[in-house]
Amino acid sequence: MKNIFLLLLTLSIISCENIKKKENMSLVNVNKEFFGKTSDGANVDQYTLKNSNGMEVSVISFGGIITSLKAKDRDGKNEDVVLGFDNLGDYENKSPYFGALIGRYGNRIKEGKFSLDGVEYKLAKNNGENHLHGGLKGFDKVIWDVEVEVNKSSASLMLRYTSVDTEEGYPGNLGVKVTYTLTNEDELKVKYEAETDKKTIVNLTQHSYFNLSAGLRKDILGHEITIDADYFLPVDMTLIPTGEIREVVQTPFDFREFKVVGDDIDLDDTQITYGNGYDHCWVLNNQDEGVRFVASAYDPLSGRLLEVFSDQPGIQFYSGNFLDGTLQSKEGGNYEFRSGFCLETQHYPNSPNQENFPSVILNPGEKYNSETIFKFSSR
Ligand code: BGC
Repeated sequence: MKNIFLLLLTLSIISCENIKKKENMSLVNVNKEFFGKTSDGANVDQYTLKNSNGMEVSVISFGGIITSLKAKDRDGKNEDVVLGFDNLGDYENKSPYFGALIGRYGNRIKEGKFSLDGVEYKLAKNNGENHLHGGLKGFDKVIWDVEVEVNKSSASLMLRYTSVDTEEGYPGNLGVKVTYTLTNEDELKVKYEAETDKKTIVNLTQHSYFNLSAGLRKDILGHEITIDADYFLPVDMTLIPTGEIREVVQTPFDFREFKVVGDDIDLDDTQITYGNGYDHCWVLNNQDEGVRFVASAYDPLSGRLLEVFSDQPGIQFYSGNFLDGTLQSKEGGNYEFRSGFCLETQHYPNSPNQENFPSVILNPGEKYNSETIFKFSSR
């Protein structure tokens, strides 16, 4: 009798443990599924991270692309707030960097060239006369190795890629690791690490296009944005910074307080004309403070708030001015003019050719380390 009692007790403890485990599993978990085959036959998987609040982030091994990000509106409804495609082919052939990891150099390098220690390096001119976002086959178009880690309060994906010496014209073998972590505080943390065996340049970023209304509104002009920056970088007609660091005060670039994106976006202003809206790098405040608040976006319609924290000196606020209604969205419609915005934390564009900009040089023996956090909430 006593034995039967002990057996029953043990069984009930085991089954409680299993339920607990199951509960944990269903709270924070990662699901892996096949996403597609590249044109040269490589398999691409999609990993979906889920937290205890039901927030979800899907990432594919091609380009480390965030294909979907579901966050709660003020009524608690989790909906997809990033632009993207429903198939790999479009990511391979048509994408304006939707959701992708960008490297080795996020943003533009003038005339696709720079020098290190008297040696000139030539890169692809894939944006008119300039180099953009790492070249013809940047980090947005390579296959990353993916490892999964799940804890009680967060789920992570570790993505690794080795960019070989001279790839896309850049010097040095560069080992890169990007960790995406979804926490139960509704944060998506993006941690970048890199090491080289030869002096090189590095400027990594994440290129998600957000529409916090989850498609309720076709454009992002009603969003309100703040950027913690007293200065921005004026550009020339090809979007290369002139080298001037200009105060935002009394310009359309003053986002120190929440401002509606559409308010000044069509003003008769040379910088707005060159960007066809906002497509500029802001010089963030408090650059020596490490990871700190740098920007936020609020959609009054859904109540969603995105706050961005980063240790980077700059942020490119791009208001989707090159979207023109020709790309088919994952929901079936089309992505219209200014239907998404990017907040790309990074070093300044064309830094390798601008001595007054913070350095983007990475030497052998040094570690490139950077972190950006996207935090979602609603009000
Ligand atoms: C750039 C834009 C560019 C977009 C897509 C952004 O980071 O600032 O000028 O059109 O990326 O390529």
